[in-house]
Amino acid sequence: MINKPDKKPSNPNFSSGPTAKRPGWSILNLQSSLVSRSHRSIECKKKLKEVIDRSKTLLELPQDYILCIMPGSNTGALESSLWSMLGARGVDILAWENFGKDWVIDVVDQLKIKDLNIHDVDYGKLPNLTKVNFNNDVIFTWNGTTSGVRVPNGDWIPSNRKGLTICDATSAIFAMPIDYEKCDVLTWSWQKVLGGEAAHGMLALSPRAVERLESYKPEWPIPKAFRVAENKKIISGIFEGNTINTPSMLCVEDVLDTLNWVEKIGGLEKLFERSNTSLKHISNWIDNTPWIEFMNSDENTRSNTGITFQIKDEWFKKMDETKKRDLMSKVTNTLAKENVAYDINGYPKAPPSFRIWGGGTVEPDDVSALLPWIDWAYGETKINLD
Ligand SMILES: Cc1ncc(COP(=O)(O)O)c(C=O)c1O
Repeated sequence: MINKPDKKPSNPNFSSGPTAKRPGWSILNLQSSLVSRSHRSIECKKKLKEVIDRSKTLLELPQDYILCIMPGSNTGALESSLWSMLGARGVDILAWENFGKDWVIDVVDQLKIKDLNIHDVDYGKLPNLTKVNFNNDVIFTWNGTTSGVRVPNGDWIPSNRKGLTICDATSAIFAMPIDYEKCDVLTWSWQKVLGGEAAHGMLALSPRAVERLESYKPEWPIPKAFRVAENKKIISGIFEGNTINTPSMLCVEDVLDTLNWVEKIGGLEKLFERSNTSLKHISNWIDNTPWIEFMNSDENTRSNTGITFQIKDEWFKKMDETKKRDLMSKVTNTLAKENVAYDINGYPKAPPSFRIWGGGTVEPDDVSALLPWIDWAYGETKINLD
């Protein structure tokens, strides 16, 4: 029997998206948001442009990359690039967890690309990166949010590639180094590492991606929400503060608030550091806890954001899937009832697992305070099973 810990995390929000708000966040900080104003007004456009400019500066994106705000969160930004750019070449697509697998459905069932290589592996693993054909367009996720597996770096992507690289960076950007020059398209949402609100996505394009948009028009229709080019010409206004449809100025104010905070704490490196400290706390705990293991056994590709781990006790492994999921719900519900951790049951389509968000808005000390509670809740659940 494990004694109930007495120190609770100061913030129990460990969800992997929407993620924890930045420390010190308050709804009162959004009072100067331009609600009820036209997003086409000079004042609103200035704020929208500010999000673009400050994101680019804080991330240190290459000067010649252009950036815009998209509807539909990261999904909207990523699907816009698939619908707008694919079809010019064959496609190699990498999938090792839920979201990569979603993009496979887009490419296979929706866009029906024929010249296709799918590099598909199970949760916890990374596909063989040496097998990717860069004469094709390549779609991949920098960090797999639902399995805790990320690419180690950008070295596997050649600089002289013929195809475009389309990178879903939503749970990576602002949390880990990204080799931007190796990514022709980068997408993310505010609701991930920045702890912002959902519904809006960001799309960054390299000059090669722009060149594709200005030299090629796909055969299929492109919905308005995805349209960043018209008649083989980029719609330049949306890279300067216009938006395709109406944005929420409340969400805009919120992301500006977080970008301010990032700047104040010391920028990107500080966010990386906070996130790595959270991962370190969990690694140390797992090293000293006999019943648990990372879903990803490879330290080189282990995520510091969607930190995913699973029960390795033999009796648990022998249970059928439904019973495993039932036990996971009991443990995580116990933690939620104690108000120490919300939403840390693994992704529904992933194997039964825990997932703790470790992005920079989470206090590493809170992660540290949570871990003894997981030991306790697991112990309590086991006792009550018999
Ligand atoms: C890797 C990855 N891709 C795509 C998505 C979908 O993002 P959104 O819901 O912001 O569109 C998520 C969200 O969790 C994600 O983690």
